Amino acid sequence: MGKITIAIDGYSSTGKSTIAKRLAASLQYIYVDTGAMYRAVTLYALNQGLITEAGEVKQADLIAQLSEVKLKFVPNRETGRSDMFLNNVNVEQEIRKMRVSGFVSQIAAIKEVREKLVKMQQEMGKDKGVVMDGRDIGTVVFPNAELKLFMTASPETRATRRYKELLVKGEEVTYAEVLKNVEDRDRIDSTRSISPLTKAKDAIEFDNSDMGLEEQFDRIYSYAQRVIAKQ
Ligand code: DC
Repeated sequence: MGKITIAIDGYSSTGKSTIAKRLAASLQYIYVDTGAMYRAVTLYALNQGLITEAGEVKQADLIAQLSEVKLKFVPNRETGRSDMFLNNVNVEQEIRKMRVSGFVSQIAAIKEVREKLVKMQQEMGKDKGVVMDGRDIGTVVFPNAELKLFMTASPETRATRRYKELLVKGEEVTYAEVLKNVEDRDRIDSTRSISPLTKAKDAIEFDNSDMGLEEQFDRIYSYAQRVIAKQ
């Protein structure tokens, strides 16, 4: 049985990464969280003062510095997952914070940023046996992926999930702020001119608003088994 490429796209906080990680672990595939890469570039921009107080991104400066942004996934033995490293610093916790979420869609809309990250993603998945989640995996990064999923859920369901996660991490946020961030990112991610978030024609749409994790996983795992068996 040959290995396949699994592309999981969809809106923010639809549980893509939870499913993708589990799927990768069960199939012994590599998992790549492409959102973490866009988040790390955003953190770089924040740390370098490339985002003004007024929230404007100094695009030309960021583009000029892109070759200095070194990204790496490093396996973490304690969690059994990979942590994102930005210029040799573990930024896995920091990139999940609201400060980064607030700007990441703007950074992800920059053509040069996307070109750099898409190239890295294609390299990471070139031997197949990969589960990659993001917004443009089935449309741009791996348009020939053997299995494509497109995850959706209502903004309220997603905001509730994200709000609970942030509270557990001790972030001081309100539900209203999280819902606004989810809705803002949906709008920016799906209306940007380069690689907007859209469902690939051959992707299976998966609305998990009213579905528990086990049921979702079982269904998706059986799709994957079916496709793998045909290789
Ligand atoms: O999956 P996430 O919420 O961590 O992604 C963070 C942001 O990065 C999201 O708002 C859109 C952007 N993104 C993207 O444009 N393309 C990807 N392949 C992955 C993420």
